[in-house]
Amino acid sequence: MVLTSPPTNAGTQSSRRYLTDSPSPSPNQNLLPLTAAVNDADHLTVGSCDVVDLVEQFGSPLYILDDHSLRAACRQYRQGFEQYYPGEALVLYASKAWNCLAVCAIVASEGLGIDVVSSGELFTATEAGVNPDTIYFHGNNKAVDELILALDTGCRIVVDNWYELKTLGELATQQGKTVPILLRITPGIECHTHEYIRTGHLDSKFGFDPDQIASVFQFLAGQPQLQCLGVHAHIGSQIFELNPHTDLGGVMAQWIVTAQRYGLTLTELDVGGGLGIRYTESDDPPSIDTWVKTVCESVVAACESQGLPLPRLLCEPGRSLIGSACVTAYRVGSQKEVPGIRSYAAVDGGMSDNPRPITYQSVYRALVANRMSAPLSETITLAGKHCESGDILIKDAPLPTLRTDDVITVAATGAYNYSMASNYNRVPRPAAVLVGDGEARLILRRETLQDLLRQDCLPESLALKTAQA
Ligand SMILES: Cc1ncc(COP(=O)(O)O)c(C=O)c1O
Repeated sequence: MVLTSPPTNAGTQSSRRYLTDSPSPSPNQNLLPLTAAVNDADHLTVGSCDVVDLVEQFGSPLYILDDHSLRAACRQYRQGFEQYYPGEALVLYASKAWNCLAVCAIVASEGLGIDVVSSGELFTATEAGVNPDTIYFHGNNKAVDELILALDTGCRIVVDNWYELKTLGELATQQGKTVPILLRITPGIECHTHEYIRTGHLDSKFGFDPDQIASVFQFLAGQPQLQCLGVHAHIGSQIFELNPHTDLGGVMAQWIVTAQRYGLTLTELDVGGGLGIRYTESDDPPSIDTWVKTVCESVVAACESQGLPLPRLLCEPGRSLIGSACVTAYRVGSQKEVPGIRSYAAVDGGMSDNPRPITYQSVYRALVANRMSAPLSETITLAGKHCESGDILIKDAPLPTLRTDDVITVAATGAYNYSMASNYNRVPRPAAVLVGDGEARLILRRETLQDLLRQDCLPESLALKTAQA
């Protein structure tokens, strides 16, 4: 059973409530990774590794990524397309969610392609050994040197705007290359988590306005060095509704019909990402299987009604592949009581390793990994260690009475945490381990104080006299 509502009597509940007797097989519907359990020492385990031992071995804060949950999500996406789509399909991992060598290698080994948005993400993916044919390069302002790197790599380029289209056309001509591209178009479907609207135009920095597509296709008809394979749209993130994706197939099939009028045969259709995950008990996203089924049915129906052959269908989820596969472990340090107002407990990380609460007011759940059965008798605000009043990881969290050195574990931190991490206050970024079958492997080394100085230059004229003495 998966809990969908907060406990009514917090005093009798424990951190175990975040573990369920029969978790959903769809990773994105669980607060914790699929392998999360409690051992005889009353400690949280992930991938059969004791989280308290991991913190002792690797330090804190620590990102703990569950190999099984990540691979399960990859397989559910792939199997869904095999089951529901009669044509060819490719799932791309939106690596902006968490881009590093190990994650790129895992998703590619599961048969996924990769969506990148910068030369840094592209470089990491190719260094991880990802096949360039399965890399799609996004971005609304790719620099010329990024486009040149993309041409050298041989990946596909998702062209966002006129400036890029013309620049790329010139570069391809100069290099005598034919470049495979997709066009990103704003679909006129705007999603908030629980509602969506359809409009002709959207106030978005991304993509061609739908009104412009006829002129874009006309331009492309005279640019044989740009081989337009298809169209792309992305309607938003952390979406729980299915209707927007039902509508999207129809909108995009219409673009393929428009392209035919200019002699272009489009064979690829990329519906973007966006499926949400469970961050708190009240979040109830559809399963990966349901989302894929919806997308496939919508595209098949739209193509049938337009008399189009089925295109190669792509999607590019990020959060729902990796978000629920990771937890972040911290140690509790100082505590502060503001009488009659609030209890604070500070952890040894914060907005530098998880900027989502301060950036988006995102809500998370935490548990005490070293005392999983302790009753949640208190309401405690988990603060970060940064010099910023807003550096609060979780406001008013249901927790046991905390002790210094308790191991706090925040759930569902796999997406947009490490990838958005910073060195604010010159705090080194945490390590990350990949766990599975009782083994933990380092995938990101903890930054050292020396690492923080790696880019620093101190001109001789600025060297302090005391340092010279
Ligand atoms: C173009 C594009 N594709 C895919 C994604 C991944 O979205 P999500 O992580 O919500 O699946 C994003 C996220 O913002 C995006 O901008």
